[in-house]
Amino acid sequence: MKMFFENSREIGKKDTVLVFTYEGFDFKTLPTKMEFMRTYGTALYFSELKNPLYLPSDKEADLIVVPLKNGDVIELETIRSASAQAARVAMQHKNSAIKIVLPEIDNFSREELAVSITEGVTLGGYVFNRYKSGDDDTATSLESCTFLGETGEYKEKVLNTALVCNNSNLCRDMVNSGTEEVNPDSIEKAATVIAKIKNMSMRVLNEKKLISKKMNLICAVGRAGRYRPRILELKYKGGKSSDKWIAFVGKGVTFDTGGLDVKPAAGMLDMRYDMAGAASVLYAIKSIAELKLPVNVYAVIPLVENAVDSQSYKPGDVFVSYSGKSVHVQNTDAEGRLILADAVTYAEKDLKADYIIDMATLTGACSIALGSEYAALVTYDDKLKDALVSSSIKTGEKLWQLPINKAYEKLIKSDIADIANISADRKAGTIVGAAFIKQFVDKSRWAHIDIASTAWADNAGAMYGKYSTGYGVRLLTDFASGPLL
Ligand code: BES
Ligand code: ZN
Ligand code: ZN
Repeated sequence: MKMFFENSREIGKKDTVLVFTYEGFDFKTLPTKMEFMRTYGTALYFSELKNPLYLPSDKEADLIVVPLKNGDVIELETIRSASAQAARVAMQHKNSAIKIVLPEIDNFSREELAVSITEGVTLGGYVFNRYKSGDDDTATSLESCTFLGETGEYKEKVLNTALVCNNSNLCRDMVNSGTEEVNPDSIEKAATVIAKIKNMSMRVLNEKKLISKKMNLICAVGRAGRYRPRILELKYKGGKSSDKWIAFVGKGVTFDTGGLDVKPAAGMLDMRYDMAGAASVLYAIKSIAELKLPVNVYAVIPLVENAVDSQSYKPGDVFVSYSGKSVHVQNTDAEGRLILADAVTYAEKDLKADYIIDMATLTGACSIALGSEYAALVTYDDKLKDALVSSSIKTGEKLWQLPINKAYEKLIKSDIADIANISADRKAGTIVGAAFIKQFVDKSRWAHIDIASTAWADNAGAMYGKYSTGYGVRLLTDFASGPLL
């Protein structure tokens, strides 16, 4: 999505213009040609228009009238999701470019409004059509938006917002694509290109290296896959050498069959999205580097396929992790925590990360607990929680904290190894998953984000269509742009 600003409010016949209506909206503020709107607009608003309405015209510009909630307090989120819906209406009518008249709403600056609209149209204007040959009714994606009558004194803010949202959309492309296109090999290739950005570099720990470093957990999980397991380490140094380092660690299971504890068909269907954590940390570090934020960040990305064949690791096996702790595999479907265990040890021991934030589609229990609105945050660190929650409120990528304490950590004791990868029952599944990862963090400040609930939409919502939401890219980028604690 490209964003433009036009001083004038002139509108051509062929344009499509997005206009917000709300209580107190003055139709006289609209550009002169919009007779239709002036005649019918008030009526439309007060007839309680619920969804954006497309008003085509032969004589003047087409209009998309976007109602903002009547009576309710208008929040930036209202504007963001109304804009997303409007973008989809525009696309259904085959528009690839729209013009926008900013609403005038008390409490919000024009910059805030423009930023929220930019988020809405960019994320809402996304379509995944990689596998469509184009001869059916495939929607065209929205390519450009122009703010009318705006000099763009806040232009940089809007362009930066679009930059990050465009990266969310690239993340969505990666997550939505099937395993033929997205697998450990291709993700490494994509990361190699990203690592060419200024002040970035990349190191790959291939399978040989993982074996020699005794990263036995990731090696075990990845052993049966069609592609070799590996860890990508991307580095962006935007701060001083003495500054603190953040490590974002993202679960990259490019397909999760469950392993020998194989998933039932319905539970396996969408398991290509089990690399959503990997994709979001990859596109977060890309965003951070492109924005040239003055921070030091690693993205640590363990990549495997959790596959079934004669090489598969087996229920009951015990492996000594990179940290030295032994792990009793009681269920091969709890594989994400295993690869993350070696990855967070690597982030702490080898990279000396001061902060470790891992992001993972870790547990089905997360959706049971939170539905698809909130991701789960688990941490012992209240300040880190505050910073992440504040980014979550700002970006609309919602987070809700679940508790953790020693009692939960005890649930993963094993009678034959130091720890087991699951607990005895299904209770508190999301917390138990986090408690497992915690066993591999020593002094670094750590938070775990389970995105099994939010990374993927089973149904289209106001902001996102079906499937990948790109969750996490905007959250982590915003976190990195805040002051470090
Ligand atoms: N990738 C799954 C979690 C998942 C499930 C993500 C559904 C998205 C949607 C994970 O590897 C897994 O299978 N977890 C198990 C853990 C259990 C064996 C303790 C689960 O959630 O059932
Ligand atoms: Zn699994
Ligand atoms: Zn998984």
